[in-house]
Amino acid sequence: MCGIVGYVGYDQATPLILSGLKKLEYRGYDSAGVAIYDGNKLNLVKAKGRLQILSDKLDAGAQLKGHLGIGHTRWATHGEPSERNAHPHVSYSGKFAVVHNGIIENYIKLKEKLLNNGINFYSETDTEVIAQLFDYYYNGDLLDTGLKVMAELEGSYALGIICDDKPGELLAMKKDSPLIIGLGKNENFIASDITAVINRTRDIIRLDDNEVALLTSSNVGVYDKDKRLLSKQVSCIDWDIASVEKSGYEHFMLKEIMEQPKVIRDTIKSKIENGEVFFENISLEKEYIKRLSKICIVACGSAYHVGCIAKYIFEKILRIPVEVEVASEFRYKEPIIDDSVLTIAISQSGETADTLAAIREAKKLGSKVLSIVNVIGSSIAAASDEVLYTLAGPEVAVATTKAYSTQLAMVYLLALYMANKMDKIDRSEYNNYVNELLYLPSKVEDILKCRDEIKSLARKFYSCKNVFFIGRNIDYAVSLEGSLKLKEISYIHSEAYPAGELKHGTISLIEEGTLVVALANNNSLFEKMISNIKEVKSRGATVLSITNEKHQEIDEVSDYKILIPDTIDIMSASLEVIPLQIFAYYIALFKGCDIDKPRNLAKSVTVE
Ligand code: G6P
Repeated sequence: MCGIVGYVGYDQATPLILSGLKKLEYRGYDSAGVAIYDGNKLNLVKAKGRLQILSDKLDAGAQLKGHLGIGHTRWATHGEPSERNAHPHVSYSGKFAVVHNGIIENYIKLKEKLLNNGINFYSETDTEVIAQLFDYYYNGDLLDTGLKVMAELEGSYALGIICDDKPGELLAMKKDSPLIIGLGKNENFIASDITAVINRTRDIIRLDDNEVALLTSSNVGVYDKDKRLLSKQVSCIDWDIASVEKSGYEHFMLKEIMEQPKVIRDTIKSKIENGEVFFENISLEKEYIKRLSKICIVACGSAYHVGCIAKYIFEKILRIPVEVEVASEFRYKEPIIDDSVLTIAISQSGETADTLAAIREAKKLGSKVLSIVNVIGSSIAAASDEVLYTLAGPEVAVATTKAYSTQLAMVYLLALYMANKMDKIDRSEYNNYVNELLYLPSKVEDILKCRDEIKSLARKFYSCKNVFFIGRNIDYAVSLEGSLKLKEISYIHSEAYPAGELKHGTISLIEEGTLVVALANNNSLFEKMISNIKEVKSRGATVLSITNEKHQEIDEVSDYKILIPDTIDIMSASLEVIPLQIFAYYIALFKGCDIDKPRNLAKSVTVE
């Protein structure tokens, strides 16, 4: 969702900004633009649609010379996607250009004030008020003006600002939207995330809320709202460049699917020492865990689906009631939470606005918050009491795969850790789980080897209009993710249902040839699933079953099957999601969809 890149240095800014924006494409956008200072004035070029259109307009950067600039990919919130509403936005005198990620909640009030002072507006955006405010308050000092403007803004923002009076200065400000500073040699950057600058520098400062940074080519000063200079930590990022390149794969999504054995292994091994689950720097004391009345899981999208699986796992192993809430619902429903509740937030990006707000709400009510997060130092990590980092590495495709799998692995680890502390698990069961966890990556590898078989199935079904996913217990929770994967990248309508619930209405949609994907891995519920499959079969459905090698008899009720390795029931989620990801990927491929950047979607959803 909205990507920002800014540059100040001695190289040509435009190609660097375009290449940074390219790396941020995954966030989702519908228009793009740059503002470059050419030694004389600010030049603005914008385009609706793909970044390539902007790049063509700029002749890949050759058309616009200058050593200071800002660029933006916009995911429309206020005003339709158009060149007029695309960022950067400029002030009435043309002195200031601004790029913004977030939402200014009091922009109408600010706009009225500026209109009353004779300042006219040209766009429908909330962002334009920021550019106009800069001009309105400008006193010759960019930092002072920035602090004054910041005091007026309500809502969320990551901002990059340049001024034609200050050819060597780039100003950045942040609240509730991500922004990093990349420290280079005789050059400095701002960006929405590390991927945009990683080929130029690995030294990063993360701006915190209500901080303002003034960058020149040789210096970066970060200030609080009272203009006190802050001493900020510089982190060195060890991601390699290959992790943000496709490395020969046609799509990031396929590359990330294929990386799963490694990242699941990395995540699991980082937390197991001598056969014990071991969490460094986490303080969940035995007494605290034992007196928990409830666990509440908050998350969005696929991370929420991981939460749905976690509910089954925690309740089975820990025997503590678990509520899973979509974060955007949790935050406004007056949740019943106190200090006897552990809130677990799950997020890949660590920047999802609703999850962040849910964390703040839970903390306000006295709950301890533990987060499972992929991005180190992200806003969600910073806002939580305890953090468990997944080791998925950077995920670029909008549709998550490897981050989901590592979140799931972390859920198993956390369940074992807590069960052990609560004395809820005997030694042999514990060892059995730990052993099985260590085997999971190689079982995932085995499934990946069968991807051509899954590709053939996708070829058969890519033109279908409706798909239903059914399952019971954890299989149902996984089917939520299988259904989401399919619809988000292939635009095929799909729904996930608890297998026993379908007959209470939705089965009326099953007709001759409707594809039903049946997940039948829960060994104790296998017979029940067979009955549910028969129910849809007898109404004309074509059934694709996903089950484990033990259940060859699935042939009797299915038209097609995908077999996955056997594992402990609660861990089957990690295996059965893999064919669902591959199936969705190839269906989208055969349909010719934009797999890594599906329409209307953003990877990092930093607005509510
Ligand atoms: C977006 C992404 C999903 C992701 C969700 C939550 O919708 O496309 O893949 O699951 O946001 O994001 P988070 O970064 O909090 O996991």
